[in-house]
Amino acid sequence: MTNDFSFPASRRKFVTILAATASTIPITAALGQGSSLSKMKIATIGAGREGGALGTLFAKLGHPVMFSSRHPEELKALVAAAGPTASAGTTAEAVAFGEVIFLVVPYPAVEQIGKDFGPALAKKPLILDASNPIPARDGQEIVSQVAAQGGPGLVTQKLLPGSKIVRAFNAISYATLEQNAHRPGEPVGVPIAGDDPKAIDLANRLIKEAGYEPVLIGDLAKGKYLVPGTPVAGIHTPTELRTIAATLT
Ligand SMILES: NC(=O)c1ccc[n+]([C@@H]2O[C@H](COP(=O)([O-])OP(=O)(O)OC[C@H]3O[C@@H](n4cnc5c(N)ncnc54)[C@H](OP(=O)(O)O)[C@@H]3O)[C@@H](O)[C@H]2O)c1
Repeated sequence: MTNDFSFPASRRKFVTILAATASTIPITAALGQGSSLSKMKIATIGAGREGGALGTLFAKLGHPVMFSSRHPEELKALVAAAGPTASAGTTAEAVAFGEVIFLVVPYPAVEQIGKDFGPALAKKPLILDASNPIPARDGQEIVSQVAAQGGPGLVTQKLLPGSKIVRAFNAISYATLEQNAHRPGEPVGVPIAGDDPKAIDLANRLIKEAGYEPVLIGDLAKGKYLVPGTPVAGIHTPTELRTIAATLT
């Protein structure tokens, strides 16, 4: 069991690495493995290390994926590496494009995203929230504030009122996402937390299609455990996750 969060120095460096390795990445055709999920338009808000790697997983399964950031002109290499179903846009364009939204930004950005796009995001069937408050990056003050309000599951819900949020992929490093997808033997478990049954069902199907096994840890209040450094963080089998989850209060 590892909790590998070894980041390269910068997002640009990651995108360069991704582009350079694009032709060597084996693409598993998950749709040939029993999934009947139709292609959904996926938008990532945030297209750095984790958003880039997550969106790439789904673009390579054939989903139309729009990566977004405040600087979409910097996403050309990422789009090229992700393949013909990928594109880039502004956050507003991504919100308009995506049927499903992957929220993959530094946690302090969630508040402004909620102010700017809250009503539009509330209309989506799923906001898959991989964003975490991290002391070293975001400062201890915001981490403490989020904890005092019940953790990032409840706080994201407060910042995006009415949205169908499922926390997922919060503590699986971007660097291991592709290699662990459809790994032989027992799959890697992805702990998830959410309140909306339909959103959870959709998240389950997308996560399975990506070659992982979703494991529901609980409601959004339990989303506080879906951050780096907790017992469910990192790489675990689904069985291990269920055992650990049973001990969480
Ligand atoms: N790195 C990992 O392995 C990993 C694993 C699991 C979860 N996570 C979580 O995923 C989130 C992103 O981490 P990361 O490592 O991918 O960070 P990153 O490489 O720094 O990328 C952050 C992305 O968010 C965008 N962004 C920042 N502020 C924004 C705003 N106000 N509006 C719209 N987009 C904004 C950035 O683009 P612009 O600056 O161009 O706008 C960039 O595309 C974090 O919460 C992290 O805890 C990371």
